[in-house]
Amino acid sequence: MVSDAALDAMQNNKAIDQYAVVGNPIAHSKSPIIHTQFAKQTQQTLHYNKQLIARGDFKKDVTAFFAEGGKGLNITVPFKEEAFHFATVLTQRAQLAGAVNTLALQADGSILGDTTDGVGLVRDLKNHHFTLKGARVLILGAGGAVRGVLEPILAEQPHEVVIANRTLSKAQQLADTFKPYGNIHACAFIALTQEQYLTGFDTVINGTSASLNGDLPPVTASIFAAKKTTGAYDMMYGPTLTPFLEWAQINGVSLLTDGLGMLVSQAAASFELWRGVMPEVNTATEILRNEP
Ligand code: ATR
Repeated sequence: MVSDAALDAMQNNKAIDQYAVVGNPIAHSKSPIIHTQFAKQTQQTLHYNKQLIARGDFKKDVTAFFAEGGKGLNITVPFKEEAFHFATVLTQRAQLAGAVNTLALQADGSILGDTTDGVGLVRDLKNHHFTLKGARVLILGAGGAVRGVLEPILAEQPHEVVIANRTLSKAQQLADTFKPYGNIHACAFIALTQEQYLTGFDTVINGTSASLNGDLPPVTASIFAAKKTTGAYDMMYGPTLTPFLEWAQINGVSLLTDGLGMLVSQAAASFELWRGVMPEVNTATEILRNEP
């Protein structure tokens, strides 16, 4: 038998807007901590949970989430492409990224798919005083993570974006796709020793997943050498400097930033899409940075 108080609590609970992050695995996700801090800070009443989805169950589970009154979802690995196909309407940046990290129920019942990773990265880069406008930007890697951030980076009007990747054809493909949005071209890692690159880059972003295995992308330190002001950014993050940032530091780079702020900033952009208010990001970043 359910008590009146418990029944009241359940009904109130249902009246509160429900959000979640879905993925597989999901236990490690920091999104509930971030969004709960955002809600508190902006005085929004909502619940934000994490939900494990079995591979093959994305459509079924996400349909059920919205059918039960859910308002919005964040999508993480490995479902960003399935979310792209699930959405009934897509933002232009999601179309270009070919992936969706945010689903939002719209007033007319449609489900909007967006990707906020790129704006999150750009916001974090600016927050840490990296140069983008008029800058020479080197991006290492040409996988899904890089594809998702190219359009917002090009929108900042860098002088040039060079994408270097282990598999040159993938970098070439991205450069071809994003050519209409700015001055972008591709090269192999080894080509970074060519004269045209030896004047150095203002901003170097590691978008490879090499750090996951404690590896470094095989690039020469000449990418930093020519400029005292080069900043190094790793889209990965960890409790200590990532191998890439450690290597950049050894090679004289002093502006070193990992992707924790990108994580919080992409969450902030999702929150704004859902709630119409943009939260401040530094408090949540500090909370995560100091987590045990
Ligand atoms: P994500 O979604 O994280 O981008 P992905 O699409 O699998 O994952 O892409 C991983 C990226 O990291 C690719 O650019 C990959 O290079 P390849 O395209 O040549 O596979 C890059 N990468 C992974 N491990 C690497 C390593 N040890 N050295 C250099 N690049 C690496």
